[in-house]
Amino acid sequence: MKELKLENRFMRALVFRQYGDPREVMELINDWEIPKPSKNKVLVKVKCCSVNAADRHMVRANYFVIKMLLGLFKPAKRRRVLGMDVAGTIETIGKGVKGFQVGDAVVAETRKILGGGFAEYALVDAADLVKKPAEISFEQAATVPISGQAAMMGLILCELQPGDKVLINGASGGVGSFGVQIAKAKGIHVTAICSTKKASAVKSWGADEIVDYKKKDSIKALNGSDFDAVFDTASFECPGRYKPMLKKDGKYVLVGGDFYNMLMLKLFSRFDTGSQKFIALSQDVEATTNIKTVLQMIVDKKIDPAIQKVISLREVPNAIHSLEERTVIGKIVVNLNSII
Ligand SMILES: NC(=O)c1ccc[n+]([C@@H]2O[C@H](COP(=O)([O-])OP(=O)(O)OC[C@H]3O[C@@H](n4cnc5c(N)ncnc54)[C@H](OP(=O)(O)O)[C@@H]3O)[C@@H](O)[C@H]2O)c1
Repeated sequence: MKELKLENRFMRALVFRQYGDPREVMELINDWEIPKPSKNKVLVKVKCCSVNAADRHMVRANYFVIKMLLGLFKPAKRRRVLGMDVAGTIETIGKGVKGFQVGDAVVAETRKILGGGFAEYALVDAADLVKKPAEISFEQAATVPISGQAAMMGLILCELQPGDKVLINGASGGVGSFGVQIAKAKGIHVTAICSTKKASAVKSWGADEIVDYKKKDSIKALNGSDFDAVFDTASFECPGRYKPMLKKDGKYVLVGGDFYNMLMLKLFSRFDTGSQKFIALSQDVEATTNIKTVLQMIVDKKIDPAIQKVISLREVPNAIHSLEERTVIGKIVVNLNSII
C-alpha cells in the first residue's frame, strides 16, 4: 500500500457526537483521524460531496432502525461523519484494488459505510468507485451517486417507453430533479407534483405539466389520468391514493418518503396480485452502472444537475436544516475547497 504523504494524520471533518438538530450537534473540527484504506479500499481526497435526505434522517435518527445502524444512544465513533457521496481524487490505494491509480478522479457513494463524505478524506470500497468523466466538474459529479442513481433506478423500475406518461411526486427535490430530466431525455411525458414556490424550477427542468399540491383538490383532479407509472420520492401518504390515476397495468414505484410506507411495500408487494404493481425501490441494477449512465447523460448534455448552491463544509448543518424546512430546490453541493 502506498504510504500517506500527508503532513499529519489528521483532517478537517464535520462530526456529530449525538443525535439531534444538525445546527446544534454537528461540529467542524481539524483533528479527526484520517482513515486508512484496508484491503480492497481506497482513500479519496474529497473535492465535493452533496447533501442528501439520508444525512437529515441520520443526524436526527428519526427512525429506530437508524439507531440500530449508527448506535443506540449516540453515533458510534466510526459513524460520526455523514456525507453519502463523494467526488474527488484517489490519495492512497489498499491492497487488491485493481483498475484504479493514485490521482484518478473518481465518484462514489459511501452509503454502505454510512457516510464519510463530509471530511477532507473518505474511505471508499473499490467496488463502489466510478471514474469521473473529464468533461464534467467535481461539483456536478457529486450530485450523482445518491440522487442521480436513485432516480435512474426508479425510472428503470417504472419500465417506461418513449411517449408514456409518468407522474413524479417530490419532483422539486434532489431525486426528483434528476427524475424529471432523465424521464424527459427518454421521451417520456412528465407530470410533476411540487409546491408553489418550486414550480418554475421544475418547469425549467422540462416537466410538461405541474401540479401544485398546495392548491385545493389538485391531486384529486388527477384521478382517471391513465398514467403508465407513478414515481414517488415523497411518499408520505398511502400509496393507494394513486390507484385511480394509474392505467390498469400501471406501476407505482416508491423511491423515498416515509420509511414505514417503504417497509410495508417491501414486505407486502409480493402478495399483490392485481394488474397494477406497487413496489418499493430495489437495487436491481448495480449502483455503479446507474452512476456511469447518469454521468454519461451529463457529458452528453442530455441532463444538467440542478445545483441550487455550492457551500462549504461549515455550512452543511444549515443546509441539512433547509432540507428539513423544504426550502431546497434540486441539490446542494459541498465544495471542500470553499472556506467560509
Ligand atoms: N432508496 C434510495 O436509494 C434513495 C436514494 C435517494 C433518496 N432516497 C429517498 O428519497 C426521498 C427524496 O430524497 P431527495 O434527496 O429528493 O429529498 P429532498 O431533496 O428533500 O426532496 C424531497 C421533496 O419532496 C417534497 N415533499 C413533499 N412532502 C414532503 C415532506 N412531508 N417532507 C419532505 N419533503 C416533502 C419536497 O418538495 P415540495 O416542497 O415541493 O413539496 C421536497 O423537495 C427521501 O426520502 C430519501 O431518503 C432514497
